[in-house]
Amino acid sequence: MSHPPRSLVMALAKGRLTDEALAYLERAGLPFPAGDPGRKLILESADGSMRFIMAKPGDVPTYVEYGAADLGICGLDVLRESRRDVYEPLLLPFGYCRLSLAGPTTRADSPLRYESQPRVATSFPNLTAEFFRQRGVNAEIINLKGSVELAPLVGLADLIVDLVETGSTLRANGLVEFRTILESQAVLVANRAAYRLHSNAMQRIIASLRQAAQQPLETTTPS
Ligand code: PRP
Repeated sequence: MSHPPRSLVMALAKGRLTDEALAYLERAGLPFPAGDPGRKLILESADGSMRFIMAKPGDVPTYVEYGAADLGICGLDVLRESRRDVYEPLLLPFGYCRLSLAGPTTRADSPLRYESQPRVATSFPNLTAEFFRQRGVNAEIINLKGSVELAPLVGLADLIVDLVETGSTLRANGLVEFRTILESQAVLVANRAAYRLHSNAMQRIIASLRQAAQQPLETTTPS
């Protein structure tokens, strides 16, 4: 007796990527249920072929590596920070931003030259530690959950490593960018085993997403 094909699960990042990711899925013809998902965390497509789960951005690679989701859409920033082992079949044309070292203008001359250990606030402790380690700087990393720009303004940190998109948050708080650590954009990730086991269904989805990636987007362009 043959079983009906199981529905594929795609993890989507809740937050700044959500609107663009949903618009992109629609362009690719993937069956995300119409209407506002509201507070629901699991959404089933009307035809039962796909299930979408809404996760915190940094958790998307975790759901995918463990196979709780077959596919995921997240930013390269959180993917690299997560160190998760997933397949990355496709970069997607939205979610452009960069992870940058920034700080007060008074540090602009020599942001990396400190007599003593600089304190660096970030929500990306792994990438930040790696950046300083590669430069032989013994930094103290202070892990924050968000609004990282606040840290140097109130004496919690000397520098920050945070995402910059338009630069308006830095400007509004009198901070400047010193170095780009990582250029980021949205990326499709896939569970390695699921990619082999359900290769036809996965490849169909990836092909639709690839085709949508080749059509010019009117609303977003790389900065
Ligand atoms: C992100 C990021 C910066 C800001 C950058 O924060 O952490 O604070 O956006 O964008 P901009 O360069 O266009 O100003 P988000 O709004 O996601 O919230 P968070 O600070 O809580 O992470």
